[in-house]
Amino acid sequence: MTATIAESTTVDAGASATPAVRLSGVGKTFRGGAPVLDGIDLTVAPGEFVCLLGASGCGKSTLLNLIADLDAPSSGTVEVPSGRAALMFQESALFPWLTAGENIDLALRLRGLSGRRDRRAETERLLDLVRLRGAYDKRPHQLSGGMRQRVALARALAQDSPVLLMDEPFAALDAITRDVLHEELIRLWEATGLAVVFVTHNVREAVRLGQRVVLLSSRPGRVAREWRVDIPQPRRIEDKAVADLSVEITDDLRKEISRHGR
Ligand SMILES: Nc1ncnc2c1ncn2[C@@H]1O[C@H](COP(=O)(O)OP(=O)(O)OP(=O)(O)O)[C@@H](O)[C@H]1O
Ligand SMILES: [Mg+2]
Repeated sequence: MTATIAESTTVDAGASATPAVRLSGVGKTFRGGAPVLDGIDLTVAPGEFVCLLGASGCGKSTLLNLIADLDAPSSGTVEVPSGRAALMFQESALFPWLTAGENIDLALRLRGLSGRRDRRAETERLLDLVRLRGAYDKRPHQLSGGMRQRVALARALAQDSPVLLMDEPFAALDAITRDVLHEELIRLWEATGLAVVFVTHNVREAVRLGQRVVLLSSRPGRVAREWRVDIPQPRRIEDKAVADLSVEITDDLRKEISRHGR
């Protein structure tokens, strides 16, 4: 199976339908600094899985924060027609004094679910979905890193947003745990129809997961190139097609990094 490599720098993502996310001419400059992001045009279709790749410091987290409405762009527009997107961080960022179930319950309460019994049922369903049945009463320190990220994923899903933003969520995990979570994430994505924007600087991970890989340049961050990944799921990180496309993307990533003297 071969991966189709898009020739142009823009891959049309269902332009006719209402998008899950649309960024038009987005720029971001922090006070007193040089522009971090500049002229970003990016459309994510409903149910699409897009991986954002780029060197450290190129503005990936900044871009996710703009989509999550945690910060405002300096120029251009950010649209998330469904409302607020759910965001999952590299560190699980669970409240350590709450149990796994209570962490999820809190997200449900913030969503406005008032019935305690309904919330308990929904929390159990979400724990089941991330394969953590029976973990309701466990505190974060009693869970492994992989389990904590599963709870964080369940908490993000509890927001019931059709858009899930993930900022290097598996970067701190060992390779085997990461591999299992890749499988789980794809299973969930296929089951839920969520649009996912997944940030990573791991090229293989991007190709393993995404339908589209978007490479950002640095200083300022711009969309440098995009690839559509037509390798059918389930993929494995060691598949030849994944490796081949990763080599090509890595070459471009290296060029982007050397262009900025890193
Ligand atoms: N709140 C802020 N105030 C000032 N500068 C910021 C702020 N947030 C980010 N920056 C700067 O913007 C640039 C991009 O940061 P960002 O965290 O988005 O990069 P990144 O691509 O996510 O990097 P990494 O891969 O290391 O996570 C960096 O130079 C950073 O110092
Ligand atoms: Mg970051």
